Amino acid sequence: MKSKASAPGKVILFGEHFVVYGVKAILCAIDKRITVTAEQIPEDKISIKSNIGKLEIPTNESITEIDSPLKPFCYLASKLIQKYNSKSGINITVESEIPLGVGLGSSSACCVAGAAAISQLFEETSKEKILELAIEAEKTIFQNTSGADCTVCAFGGLMEYDKKKGFSKIDTESNFHLVIVNSNIEHSTDAVVSNVKKFKDSNEEQFLNLCKKESELINKVMKNLKNKDLKELGNMMHKNQEFLETIGISNEKLRQMINVAETIAYGAKITGAGGGGCIIALTDESNLEKTISQLRGKNYDCFSVRIDHKGLDTF
Ligand code: MEV
Repeated sequence: MKSKASAPGKVILFGEHFVVYGVKAILCAIDKRITVTAEQIPEDKISIKSNIGKLEIPTNESITEIDSPLKPFCYLASKLIQKYNSKSGINITVESEIPLGVGLGSSSACCVAGAAAISQLFEETSKEKILELAIEAEKTIFQNTSGADCTVCAFGGLMEYDKKKGFSKIDTESNFHLVIVNSNIEHSTDAVVSNVKKFKDSNEEQFLNLCKKESELINKVMKNLKNKDLKELGNMMHKNQEFLETIGISNEKLRQMINVAETIAYGAKITGAGGGGCIIALTDESNLEKTISQLRGKNYDCFSVRIDHKGLDTF
């Protein structure tokens, strides 16, 4: 038996990090995907092949000691093998269009597509149940996840996300294009989120105040998304970037990329955990190509994306 699923990557438009502490965030899924194929095999092993490497473990191995970015797949396969008392092993193949480890949701898309492909070997499951399983798997490599990334990878589209209340889709015909600029500095989301916690613990009052300001900003963003006022949205991205600078997740290269992008685009900011990874620049038809050539002129690695509306897809 063989099954296949794919899930999109994501960008965070507003609210990364603050979302971990209960502030709403605005995210969208992007048109770059991860596809996971799972197959039952007679051998007693879980075997994973991906473009970040290979891993093979016996089906009865405890996963607590595994130190690999592929650990979520081991968790999912071993959980379902045990749940269904299966005598087979599982082969997992991962194909990715998403650059890995740079804040574009590659690991969340792996967890969502992996949860779907592996559980489909045993049962028909709802998207909600797959999301639950994907977040459990993500927690094996990133304990403090807000759940935002897996949620948008599962359900797709443009959405607001609240750690406690869940998500709601933002129902607007978007008129924007996003340019993603990759610093090619890999980061560990877990490590950057831990550093932000240290910042919060030693600057409680300042952090609370930033959460309040981010919340107010996001309420304004919601209005502007509906009015499609890109100039104003760009200014808000710029404002959000100031908050991200304050909590210490930026660096010189990211700042330079943002400055170059903002000479043409409506606004730009870090997307995702920061510390490396990517920035996004907000454009429309009128300044998309010019923004890209300005960035490429400075030798930055960039590409444009559109919103993915489908989310998780199973075959
Ligand atoms: C990472 O893409 C987004 C963070 O806000 C962490 C999270 O929400 O789990 C930094």
